[in-house]
Amino acid sequence: MEKTFYVTTPIYYVNAEPHIGHAYTNIAADCISRYERLRGREVFFLTGTDEHGQKIAQAAGEKGIDEQSFVDAVVPRFNALWEKLSIAYSDFIRTTQDRHIRVVQHILRRLYDKGDLYLENYEGWYCVPCETFWPETQLTEMICPDCQRPLEKIVEENFFFRLSRYQQWLRSYIEEHEEFVLPSSRRNEIMKFLENPLSDLCITRPKTRISWGIDVPFSKGHVVYVWFDALINYISAAGFAADEDRFNRLWPCEYHLIGKDILRPHTVYWPIMLRALDLPLPRTVFAHGWWQLAGGKISKSKGNVVDPIALVERYGQDAFRYFLLRDVRFGLDGVYSEEALARRYNNDLGNDLGNLLQRTLTMTEKYFEGRVPASAPKNDDDLCRSVRTAQGVLWGAMEAPMNQLNFSEALTAIWSFISLLNRFVEETAPWSLAKEGKKEYLAGVVFHLLEGLRVAALALFPFMPNAAARMWGQLGMTTSLEKASYNDIRSWGLIQPGQRIGEKEPLFPRITVPEC
Ligand code: MSP
Repeated sequence: MEKTFYVTTPIYYVNAEPHIGHAYTNIAADCISRYERLRGREVFFLTGTDEHGQKIAQAAGEKGIDEQSFVDAVVPRFNALWEKLSIAYSDFIRTTQDRHIRVVQHILRRLYDKGDLYLENYEGWYCVPCETFWPETQLTEMICPDCQRPLEKIVEENFFFRLSRYQQWLRSYIEEHEEFVLPSSRRNEIMKFLENPLSDLCITRPKTRISWGIDVPFSKGHVVYVWFDALINYISAAGFAADEDRFNRLWPCEYHLIGKDILRPHTVYWPIMLRALDLPLPRTVFAHGWWQLAGGKISKSKGNVVDPIALVERYGQDAFRYFLLRDVRFGLDGVYSEEALARRYNNDLGNDLGNLLQRTLTMTEKYFEGRVPASAPKNDDDLCRSVRTAQGVLWGAMEAPMNQLNFSEALTAIWSFISLLNRFVEETAPWSLAKEGKKEYLAGVVFHLLEGLRVAALALFPFMPNAAARMWGQLGMTTSLEKASYNDIRSWGLIQPGQRIGEKEPLFPRITVPEC
């Protein structure tokens, strides 16, 4: 049985509204999922919410409601955003669900019985917003190295997980598995971190300090540390310790997509947890960069979040997805500005793609009564052949970058094809062909354009599912794009002569570029 292509996003904290950073990972995961599905693979795409921990308890406290009611009220906002962005996930895990809690407790018990956990008095410097203890050796001032806020001194009894036991093993594993941490800059970062001795991980919190968490089964006074609980979502949702068949089909997953700030839990704690459980590791943890505003990074704690819902309402989901996937190579940091988004909208989407479709459909109506004309043997000249050659290489030009999650380069390859179609219109000048009465050659030219647009719509589906489906419909295709096969990008001539084109409507009507 072929293994399912399993891809995950982080599970998001629900202490505030979803923002552009959350949207980014889910769009990338949706894109790769749709791509693999069109290529015929069984896909399982997991996203969800991280609902325990101090931050959530604090946010609920500020609203004056209990934690469960608070998280229940926020989760639908995430669901609504995913719907607005056409994020076709297969499962949505919430860490407050029983199916998750059971697995976390099962794992704790197993690690405890195995001697990987121990109880100890702990005195340390703690960052409340980041929920992280910092060993004094890593501090020069008593300020959090991640968020730069003052640390609090805390003394308490907690359970620890023996990370140190596995340090050498982890180093060798990362050395031997080049694909485990990507991009390679992140791999270097984590290898460097592992040059110093690993401290054991404090994985519980006393209920006297925080009670909003999963109960530790062998200690009445403790709840589980939120990161230890959260990472387990990737296997609890896959049926670990509950549904063996399902778990074997899904695990190990292909990709954990994460932001670069949560690299350490995913490439140090998590692989060690899996190793301690005798489970194989995910193939790749891929850490993407951060979107920053000209003035610095966007984050909930800075209060300068970019509201994805507002942007989708103004520019549509396709333009928003396109911008995030195209503007910056996945893995690098990007600078976000609405002006850049609006320019991409008008230039790439409105001019290059939208106008090409409108012109082609108008010519089909005007010269061929709205039906796809047949190509003729005459259309075997250099110009027409250049379209077929470009179509022939498109698949390969997309496959290599998609295998590296380089969405931007894959889109650039599609845009080269679209630009070639635009040049083809200029060079063949169909309006002159019509005037000169060269109807047979004209038919071939329009056929090449319609067929080229069919290929473009299919190629674009993983990136802009909504716009691609609208293109598909306007071309008069009656099959479902969702069920199409990506292989059809490679076949020339699938659009049917005689087929009636659909209703014409502008894909990306021009908008005014805001001055930023
Ligand atoms: N709950 C943890 C993840 C647990 S996964 C087992 C968490 N949640 S979060 O809501 O704070 O952040 C989730 C993701 O959003 C992170 O991957 C983070 O990198 C990403 N982003 C937050 N702001 C971002 C940008 N401005 N740009 C890109 N991604 C950013 O961490």
